[in-house]
Amino acid sequence: MSKARVQYTCGACGIVQPRSYGRCPSCEAWNSFVEERVAGGAGSRPTAASGARPLAITQVPAAGHGRVATGLAEFDRVLGGGIVPGALMLLGGEPGAGKSTLTMQVSAALARQGRQVLYLSGEESAQQIRLRADRLDALDERLHLLCESDMPTLIEAIRGLSPDFVVVDSIQAMQDPELSSVPGSVSQVREAALQFQQVAKRYGIPMVLVGHVTKEGTLAGPRVLEHLVDTVLSFEGDRYRAHRILRSLKNRYGSTLEVGVFEMTGQGLSEVADPSALFLAERTQGASGSAVAVLLEGSRPLLLEVQALVAPTSSSSPRRAANGLEQGRLIQILAVLDRRVGLHVTQSDVHANVVGGLSMAEPAGDLALALAVVGAARGLALPDPMVAIGEIGLGAEVRRVGQIEARLHEAAKLGFTQALIPRGNLDGLDVPDPLVVHGIGHLTEALPLAFPSREPA
Ligand code: TYD
Ligand code: MG
Repeated sequence: MSKARVQYTCGACGIVQPRSYGRCPSCEAWNSFVEERVAGGAGSRPTAASGARPLAITQVPAAGHGRVATGLAEFDRVLGGGIVPGALMLLGGEPGAGKSTLTMQVSAALARQGRQVLYLSGEESAQQIRLRADRLDALDERLHLLCESDMPTLIEAIRGLSPDFVVVDSIQAMQDPELSSVPGSVSQVREAALQFQQVAKRYGIPMVLVGHVTKEGTLAGPRVLEHLVDTVLSFEGDRYRAHRILRSLKNRYGSTLEVGVFEMTGQGLSEVADPSALFLAERTQGASGSAVAVLLEGSRPLLLEVQALVAPTSSSSPRRAANGLEQGRLIQILAVLDRRVGLHVTQSDVHANVVGGLSMAEPAGDLALALAVVGAARGLALPDPMVAIGEIGLGAEVRRVGQIEARLHEAAKLGFTQALIPRGNLDGLDVPDPLVVHGIGHLTEALPLAFPSREPA
């Protein structure tokens, strides 16, 4: 390593400057600059490797070549089919989400395939990890453990073992003694990640860096890591709820649309092959202010319950609270209901919630949201085995959605017998048994079908 130099890094956005600023010129955060001493090696400008020359693009090996499936189908799905050699992956999540559990299970699955795995922990003792591994039935002699936070020792261990897969739990716990800053600081986290990145790329070893995320959702330590890694995975769910959702936020080797669903059990994470059934399990049937949407999460249709609550308020600015969907979307649906359907909720707080901790990003959930709000305002329940699919435009027209047949099959599979769908989707539609579909052109046409009795629930 050459001699250390001084630089200043914004703790909020990660920008590096030769001097400090009171207010970050990039993200405008106040007093966010920290002084860092950077070792001349990994952090400095890379020099061209000797003999580097351009290559015909057809001669460059395709990314994803030699992908390794771990056998944990939900994990593989989110990665786009498995682990890519040399891929640097970041697994973020709040404490207690189950990051150590997931990485241990992935490690054990790979070890059982005959691969050498190195699990580096800077947070727990070997006994603690052994205890977890016992519980997870993850014992395998090809799974190696090193409890250490000193970067040179860790890098040396990787070089020595030359494993097929490495887990770093967590990146915030690792520390390079050449840097003066404390573990978990911006410069330590980045320097450690850079060093792991170099090893991953040079030897083609895929690695998962575990990163703690704060309640606000930012990776403790800056966002710099997200730029550095090939894949950013987020593990969501809290210790009070059994199910966990694995998402990819960035993936250089695949789509970022897929989600994986797990359930935390006494023996670790089990895969949920039928998440719709899980998310609908707690639904009270026949309750007002509830509707079932069919959304696409990646290639997979998911049935989700959307709930609404309309409560009178004397406040001059009633609340519009949206949980699991964008508040702007809720406000727009309320405006459409107000102007086009004659449902006025200006004197009420409106709460909308997507059950199960999932988020409804897709506009195909609009119709279910609108029906949940109407039901909540009027005390009406939808006929139970009914799903509602469709995007709602500003004129209250119901717009067609993609992959309608996949959605309807999922609904039929879960025992639903009626579906409200956009009229534009009816053409040439193959309707799965025993589903009856109603094509809706305008939101007002959906109301008599959704609330045939108009009897308060
Ligand atoms: P952990 O993987 O340690 O979370 P993280 O590394 O993200 O902080 O475990 C999360 C929680 O899961 C912890 O509260 C204990 C619980 N748990 C189980 O319920 N069953 C299990 O088999 C294991 C290993 C953990
Ligand atoms: Mg942990």
